Amino acid sequence: ERTRVAIVGGGPAGLLLSHLLHGSGVEHVVLEARTREEIEHTHRAGILEAGAVQALVDAGLDRVLRDGSRHDGIVLRFDGADHRIDLTGLTGRSVWLYPQTDVFVDLANRRAADGADGSAGGGADGGVGSSGTDTGGRPDGEVRWGCAVTHVLDGDTDRPGVLWTDPDGDTHELRCDVLIGADGSHSTLRHTLPEAQRRTFVHEYPYAWFGVIVETPRSAPELVYTASEHGFALISQRTDTHQRLYFQCDPDEDPGRWSDDQIWAELQRRVAGPDGFRLVEGPVEERSVLRFRSSVVEPVRHGRMLLAGDAAHTVPPTGAKGLNLALADVVVLHDVLLTWLASAGSAGSAAGTSRGGRPGRRPDDTVLDEYGRRVAERVWRAQHFSAWMSGMLHSHPGETGFAARRRLAELRTLTASESGRRYLAEGYTGWGPVLGE
Ligand code: DHB
Repeated sequence: ERTRVAIVGGGPAGLLLSHLLHGSGVEHVVLEARTREEIEHTHRAGILEAGAVQALVDAGLDRVLRDGSRHDGIVLRFDGADHRIDLTGLTGRSVWLYPQTDVFVDLANRRAADGADGSAGGGADGGVGSSGTDTGGRPDGEVRWGCAVTHVLDGDTDRPGVLWTDPDGDTHELRCDVLIGADGSHSTLRHTLPEAQRRTFVHEYPYAWFGVIVETPRSAPELVYTASEHGFALISQRTDTHQRLYFQCDPDEDPGRWSDDQIWAELQRRVAGPDGFRLVEGPVEERSVLRFRSSVVEPVRHGRMLLAGDAAHTVPPTGAKGLNLALADVVVLHDVLLTWLASAGSAGSAAGTSRGGRPGRRPDDTVLDEYGRRVAERVWRAQHFSAWMSGMLHSHPGETGFAARRRLAELRTLTASESGRRYLAEGYTGWGPVLGE
């Protein structure tokens, strides 16, 4: 089987790319190892920058405006007191609390509604009216759940491909003109890029987050990022009945070892202060440990293979930049892919849909390098922002008294200065359009 664009990974990055390519009439296939249900039940971060919301709305996905909640500020809490950052007053921009799961559901539903859902018929690629290599009558994109890529074929050529396994365990080959790795931080595709031609920049952190979903009403109207002598805690929200809370823990912490009472006691002592602030307590419904890691792979293109989202870079969760970066990558990648297809004298679905449907001219592959050039600025700004927020707000195991007091001095200096608050607000809301995008 062959297609124009093969996308490995059906998370938000892969699905947004699929949705955009569908809008542009470019034939493609998405292969996702997990089922829709598995992805829907994974809790991820909850904050969308204004620019990410705009990208979704521009793509026709506007449920965020109805079901998300706009946040015009965040609170930094230290010395047991709240220090509000007026995001909107300082930058003119807001952020939206809209969990990644909802972004995923919106995209998956829209792709299914547009006829792309390969699992609609219940089989591996048994979508109604589509099967095997028969492209006749097939919509210009297909999303196949439960289909794991096992090998990359001829990654160095202009006809790369993958071997993938369907849910029945049968192996298939898919060839394409361009192969996109949107397969997350453990990316299969990234690992096939030649070691000698890629650099990975990595930073590890000596702490992690213990994340819980609790059944309680909200304890605060806005997000509260707390630094305390007992470590960091983040109070986030979900619905009127469920909330998302995190507290700093050891990367090797076993979440099963904690009783609900112990979790609440730890959270309460981190947010405690002279103002008497307390969290509303209730049952802990879910818990997990989120490890921290910053990483960037360069370059993001090798031949006709390109990486997007977590496959290309990861950030620690502080500041919630991961999903925002992934969506920004994909908007640029879609644009660059259209330019690249046009360089071959064809951009639409007419070319490449049949076996002989190769582009008229050989496309100019240097066009693909535009993608990496255009996203790098935002990627590195987000790397800095996430590492900076993390370092400022967390206790470092074994840190000296000097280091702890210096961190507090940074928080006090930052929040006491309008310039400082604006610097944080600009980063938190995503800087607006970033040079090159
Ligand atoms: C959430 C997660 C984050 O990492 C963050 O910085 C803010 C909010 C969340 O899950 O709600």
